Amino acid sequence: MERIRSIEWVGDKVKIIDQTKLPTKVEFIETDDYKVVAEAIKSLKVRGAPAIGIAAGFGIYLGVKSYDGKDKERLKLILEEVCFEFASTRPTAVNLFWAIERMKKVFYQNFHLEVDQIKGILLDEALRIQNDDIQMCKAIGLNGSKLIPEKANILTHCNTGWLATGDYGTALGVIYTAFEQGKKIKVYVDETRPLLQGARLTTWELMQRGIETVLITDNMAAFLMKRGEVDCVIVGADRVALNGDTANKIGTYNLAIVANYHGVPFYVAAPTSSIDFNINTGDEIPIEFRSGDEITEIMGKRIAPEGVKTFSPAFDVTPGNLITAIITEIDIFHPPFKESLVKIKEMLKKED
Ligand code: MRU
Repeated sequence: MERIRSIEWVGDKVKIIDQTKLPTKVEFIETDDYKVVAEAIKSLKVRGAPAIGIAAGFGIYLGVKSYDGKDKERLKLILEEVCFEFASTRPTAVNLFWAIERMKKVFYQNFHLEVDQIKGILLDEALRIQNDDIQMCKAIGLNGSKLIPEKANILTHCNTGWLATGDYGTALGVIYTAFEQGKKIKVYVDETRPLLQGARLTTWELMQRGIETVLITDNMAAFLMKRGEVDCVIVGADRVALNGDTANKIGTYNLAIVANYHGVPFYVAAPTSSIDFNINTGDEIPIEFRSGDEITEIMGKRIAPEGVKTFSPAFDVTPGNLITAIITEIDIFHPPFKESLVKIKEMLKKED
């Protein structure tokens, strides 16, 4: 397949690959309507923490661009309304709020300019958010690949590749880089119930690159580890607290416990845009709960009795003490995370 990105700016529209249709259909949504972008985030047509942030950046620009007047007070109201709408799409991935803050910041910094100039600056910022993410993913790949032995069986959960980011990926970025360095890699992919991001998306990405891929169901990890078949686990993150507690796709916490029990290193790969410097522990991370239909049905086919009660958190929080290292674009950080993450906070503040 021709090399594509999950989100692209084409002409005056945003083009998004519809991830709910993959891998059976490769379909795109092309739109200049910010409401369509917000809906695409809610319904997981675009998903993965960095990709959600990038989509919101373009969406905010589209929302502001749709105003064709010259009244800047009105423009401000529109910006706030549109940002509020994006902030209400999904609560857990902090990258979304990071991107919204970036868009708001450039808007207010340039509020003295003409409406058209402000619009142009917003588009530049949205493009920069995507480009920054691509650079961060490349650096995460290089940093993380140092942790991967010459021959490695790696287990991963959910989808953290080019579909979930500006390009390349975070945890999958590490795997791609190690593979490109000539390392012999085999990847065990958790199917990732309920929405099967592993089975549908991660296997699809890895197989396109020619990487040996083995699909397992989420409950097979302990058995594999007991047999000594997993050298390390690498996952992504939706929000990392200052003590290293990490929210990621539901099931990540189970995996961390199982890895810890078997002495298998458990790595989190994430850009610094996934770190929430305002919260001290994972208890403060808002967890998204989704419709029970996502559990009672698989790909629209009902599998549970009508009327059954459900419990459907989309994410869980892995305590920092189960994490061997956090791989960012800056460096690899080891526990105690509190010290290293505070240092990153200071470093980023200086760059600001
Ligand atoms: O509900 P999703 O599919 O958006 O959840 C995605 C994940 O949990 C990913 O692991 C995380 O966002 C990191 S993507 C680089």
